[in-house]
Parts: sequence; C-alpha cells; structure tokens
Amino acid sequence: MKGTKTANGYNRRMAKSSSQINPQSKPDDKVDHALRPQKLNDLIGQNQVKENLSILIDAAKHRGEALDHVLFYGPPGLGKTTLAHVLGNEMGVNVKVTAGPAIERAGDLAAILTNLRAGDILFIDEVHRLGRAVEEVLYPAMEDFALDIVIGKGPSARSIRLKLPKFTVVGATTRLALVTAPLRARFGAVYRLDYYDLAAMKKIVSRAAGMLKVQADESGVGEVARRARGTPRIALRLLRRVRDFAQVRADGVITQNVAKEALDLLQVDPLGLDDVDRRVLKTIIEKYNGGPVGLNTIAASISEEQDTIMDVVEPYLLQLGFLDRTPQGRVATKSAYEHLGLDYADEGQQRLL
Ligand SMILES: Nc1ncnc2c1ncn2[C@@H]1O[C@H](COP(=O)(O)OP(=O)(O)OP(=O)(O)O)[C@@H](O)[C@H]1O
Ligand SMILES: [Mg+2]
Repeated sequence: MKGTKTANGYNRRMAKSSSQINPQSKPDDKVDHALRPQKLNDLIGQNQVKENLSILIDAAKHRGEALDHVLFYGPPGLGKTTLAHVLGNEMGVNVKVTAGPAIERAGDLAAILTNLRAGDILFIDEVHRLGRAVEEVLYPAMEDFALDIVIGKGPSARSIRLKLPKFTVVGATTRLALVTAPLRARFGAVYRLDYYDLAAMKKIVSRAAGMLKVQADESGVGEVARRARGTPRIALRLLRRVRDFAQVRADGVITQNVAKEALDLLQVDPLGLDDVDRRVLKTIIEKYNGGPVGLNTIAASISEEQDTIMDVVEPYLLQLGFLDRTPQGRVATKSAYEHLGLDYADEGQQRLL
C-alpha cells in the first residue's frame, strides 16, 4: 500500500515541507500509531462528532447492520484517519485502508470491493482525488452494494451485476469542495473536524507525555498545547522535539521555560505560527500592501506549494482572524499587523492613496 502511494506521488507533497508545524504526516510520525486512540472513549475533544458517531454505531449494532457511509473532512492532522480506525474497533470489523490517488483504475477498485466481507470498513483517504472512472464504480457499490461488470467487447458485450456484501465506506478529505456532488450525496453522515480547543490540546499533550514516559509539568504541557495550533499531530511532533531539547539542554523535565526555549528555537511562536505562516503574512503586508492578493501569487512569492498554503496555512490564519478571504483575494487584518509588530494605520492610509 505504502509503495503504491509513493509511486503515485501521494506522499510527495507531504514530504516536501520541513516545517515543524506542517500537520501533514512525516516519516517521523510513525510512533504516533502507538499513541492513536483506539476507542471512542479514548478520543479527546470533538465532542459533537463523538456523540453523533456513538449514536450511529449503536444504531447500526442494534439493527445488526453495517455502518452507514461516513465522510470526515477538515484540516490535516485532526484525527480523520484515527476516527476511521476507531469506527472499525467499535464495530469489531476489519478496516481496509486505501487512498484516492492509489486507486488508479476502475478494476483496482473492483478488486478491493470483491475482497470485502460483510460489515468491513473501506477507508478511502483523500477521497477528493479519486478518478472519475473509479467514482463511477463506487456509486452503485455504495448505494446498492452492486458491482457492474462488462463482459466481452463490441456487439456481444453484456453487463452483469455482482452483488457485494454490505460494507461501509469511510472517506476522508481536507477539501470538501473538491468532492463531487454525486459522491458526497452517497455518504449518509458527513462530519467536519475542527481545530481542538486549548483544554483538549492540553489533555492530548499530557496523555502523550505519559505514554512517551516524558516528565512534563502542567505549565510545560500548556506551552506545547498552546503552540500546536489546535492540531493533535503537531502537538505530538512538538512534544517530541521539546523532549529532545529537555534531555540535551535541561534535566529531562519539560517545564514552561524549557518548552518556551525549545519552541522558540524551532521558530514556533506563542500562537503556533511558524516561519511559513509569518512569510505568508509578511508577503501580503509588505509586498502587496495588505492585500487583496491571490493565493497563487502568494505561493509563488514565497516559493511554497499552493496546496500547503491552502490546506495548512490559510485555515489557521483564518481561524485566528489574521486573514480575510475576499473575492479579490486574501487580505491581512489588523490583528495580523499587530501580531507581527507592524503599524496598521500607516499601511491602511497607503492603501487609500
Ligand atoms: N482526539 C484525539 N485525541 C488524541 N490524539 C489524537 C486525536 N486525534 C488525533 N490524534 C493523534 O493525532 C495524530 C494525527 O491524527 P490522524 O492521522 O488521524 O489525522 P488526519 O486527520 O487523518 O490527518 P491527514 O489529513 O493528514 O490524514 C494521530 O497520530 C493521533 O495519535
Ligand atoms: Mg489521515
């Protein structure tokens, strides 16, 4: 599976940025699997999603049926993959993992589908990147649990319909807007994952510290949690870097000061912004007078990939209220100027000239 993904370039964009706060997974994140919550109750935060899922699970179990098809969307690193596995554990079924770009031909999907057993979960990551021909096969499979196969060629060709066991598709995407309408319509439940609040982040960091057997006091945990931009994957990554720092430069215990020093050294600021975020804001402010400026122009100006800016940088800056999206392009807000220590009034006047 891994091999196919790489061959397809699936991991290419993920591997590119070396930024600490890039929530896209990196090889170093392998250990995360051990930290992954297994059951719904181990999951911290996302209470609304959790409650909805527990109803979905109980109802399906009660009727003795497969779960309805579920689609998760939201920025990377918030727990979409984790939730898919949690659903599998809760239902006591197998989870078959694949990804949109890994299923190249309709035949590949047919092979996957015919190997599923009743109740199994087919987890399709990056579901917005499925090819059109593949999607066409998926529609009847999701709706009627049927697979249409054409046998023969020319005038003698005929189509037969194979019955599939009742299974569940769990889809994940960072870009709901790119999921085609017919595909979206076939998911019975669609959930948006949002950034975690500080209380949840603290619990996540503290749980991970416990599992990694790192000593961290409450203020140290808080400092890591605050700078992890509401994203569990980043929290786990920062925690590991801070642990290294604590071992090498301090006595192994993560205190607030140790965390601060370590994170400053990684150029992750108190709001969790890193070098790329700051460069995006500075470009809008300094080169384009505060905006509006198009995303592709920003990406080109700082030589970053547009995808990274769209999936990772922009959602968090929007959430902080540092960026506004207008039909003409992105605009930096007053808070952004203030955070960077730049003078807003002056810039505003310049814009009026
Ligand atoms: N609610 C949570 N509580 C504790 N840890 C969590 C939670 N959600 C996610 N994590 C941790 O964060 C890491 C990233 O989660 P996951 O891989 O599920 O994200 P994702 O949304 O699938 O990201 P991507 O879009 O990049 O695929 C996991 O290793 C998991 O351990
Ligand atoms: Mg994932």
